[in-house]
Amino acid sequence: MRDKIFDMLKKSDGEFVSGEDMATKLNITRAGVWKHIKKLRDNGLDIIGKKNGYKINDSPDLLQPEKIQKNLNTKIIGKNIFYRPKVDSTNNIAKKMARENAVDGTVIIAEEQTNGKGRLERNFYSPKEKCILFSVILRPKCFPKDAPKFTLLAAVAVARAMEKFNLHAEIKWPNDIVHDGRKIVGILTELAAEVDFVKWIVVGVGINVNIKPEDFPEDIKNIASSLYEINGKKNLSRVDFFQTLLEEFEKIYLSANENGFGEILNLWKKYNVTLGKNIKVISADTGDVFFGKAIDIDSDGALIVETENGRQTVYAGDVSIRKAD
Ligand code: BTN
Repeated sequence: MRDKIFDMLKKSDGEFVSGEDMATKLNITRAGVWKHIKKLRDNGLDIIGKKNGYKINDSPDLLQPEKIQKNLNTKIIGKNIFYRPKVDSTNNIAKKMARENAVDGTVIIAEEQTNGKGRLERNFYSPKEKCILFSVILRPKCFPKDAPKFTLLAAVAVARAMEKFNLHAEIKWPNDIVHDGRKIVGILTELAAEVDFVKWIVVGVGINVNIKPEDFPEDIKNIASSLYEINGKKNLSRVDFFQTLLEEFEKIYLSANENGFGEILNLWKKYNVTLGKNIKVISADTGDVFFGKAIDIDSDGALIVETENGRQTVYAGDVSIRKAD
């Protein structure tokens, strides 16, 4: 019965199909139609319900797997895509799927998150159909200490995709992509590991794509930006950008697996806006605040800061670039 309802919606060519019509044709009650519509929605189909009936939301810029995978030039990343219109957090779904043995390169993508997670227990603003919100499950052969480098890898992949769209990319350590100091992209990496090997890594990426400056909530208006702004206040095709991003991601993921992270660290340095700047650091481990000059990243991607008391290595924390520069 559910398949029949799905067929009727598919064949309606973007028009609403009334619940009553479906009920009559299928010889079931309106409540029965509603029950099947609910099941289809639970299975990930985005169905718009209005007074005049139901229709499948098929806007051309939805990040549905068939659109993303059409002409996608990858071997691993995005070969399996799990798509949902709305989730709490794609990272949560990805971690569950990773525990259930989802394959390397599986992508989880959503149009909206109700509980988008950021680093340091923060929230990530995830409005409907305006962002690219996704997580990739990776199964690299590496040590737990290598995990943060996959965050740098993702940042470089986004920066390279931006370059392909002629959008200037700047990475602030460790992984924010910024524009005029305001954040466009956030990356959250989570993993499961034994002492000496990684079982899986989930890299979650949130990109503000078509959000107008005035549409950000008050509390982040002054610190957030979007690709829309860099793109001369024009919307960008999320489908095209996401395809390019998955292809760039795969290129550097394969290169890291084969040749290590040297090339990625160099690329990261090319896009970074942190090195050479006077910065304020809030250490994630101790909460300590200190000032200094960012001079380099080490081979693990940790930030090396020259301070009054000598060099300090920062593995995790919040960095702000000081205005005086
Ligand atoms: C940060 O900047 O603090 C990291 C933000 C990471 C947000 C992305 S959106 C997709 C994925 N799912 C989540 O819940 N978080 C990441």
